[in-house]
Amino acid sequence: MESAKIQEGQLQGVKFVNDTLTIIYNRRAVRKYKDTAIERTIIEQILDAGKMAPSAINKQPWKFYILTNKEDIRVFSKEISRVAIKEVVKSGVKEIIKTAKEFLHFSHGVDFLKENDPIFHGAPVVIFISSPIDNEWAALDVGMCAQNIMLAAKSMGLDSCPVGLAKFVEQTKIYSRLNIPQSERVNLAIIVGHGNESPEPKERVAGNVTFI
Ligand SMILES: Cc1cc2nc3c(=O)[nH]c(=O)nc-3n(C[C@H](O)[C@H](O)[C@H](O)COP(=O)(O)O)c2cc1C
Repeated sequence: MESAKIQEGQLQGVKFVNDTLTIIYNRRAVRKYKDTAIERTIIEQILDAGKMAPSAINKQPWKFYILTNKEDIRVFSKEISRVAIKEVVKSGVKEIIKTAKEFLHFSHGVDFLKENDPIFHGAPVVIFISSPIDNEWAALDVGMCAQNIMLAAKSMGLDSCPVGLAKFVEQTKIYSRLNIPQSERVNLAIIVGHGNESPEPKERVAGNVTFI
């Protein structure tokens, strides 16, 4: 368990400190990783924590497809980035600058076109999460599951990042290698590993709370 210390700069708004809150406040989207493999038992533990998430009508709709082989991760990243770039271009020239900024995460200092691995950021573990197309609550359930995974990872000294762009894996020519049934859609991927950067927390939006 990470020591009960909340990074400075995050203390604004923090009135109580305990191990759970410390993990929540210290988790960041990390986009640089050490070249260190993660043991299977650790991956299994964080997935198990993911499965403890709540789900609508207890459907537990999530399925996990995991890459740990470096070459596989590299190839999937390359194929997904190809599709992602096309999708941005398709979104229309007028919108490109705005969309590309959000979509390709230039705002995080990641240069999509120059970075070696702009999708999985060199992480040693990639967890695609899919859910049935015909479950209207599945995306919410998967979001909760994904957050459990990221907090569990953090509690075990690992970093992570949700990767929405990973959904474009469905449009790659290597998608069939994941063996995901046609009745499922990929919601996102979570990357996990030993982080090699400590990003500052981003300012949180204020004024969005109304007590009635
Ligand atoms: C649904 C979702 C999709 C995301 N997709 C990506 C992505 O494709 N690539 C990426 O680098 N970060 C992605 N992020 C990470 C966000 O950019 C990040 O969580 C946000 O900037 C806040 O930073 P923090 O997580 O460090 O607090 C995604 C986050 C969420 C919740």
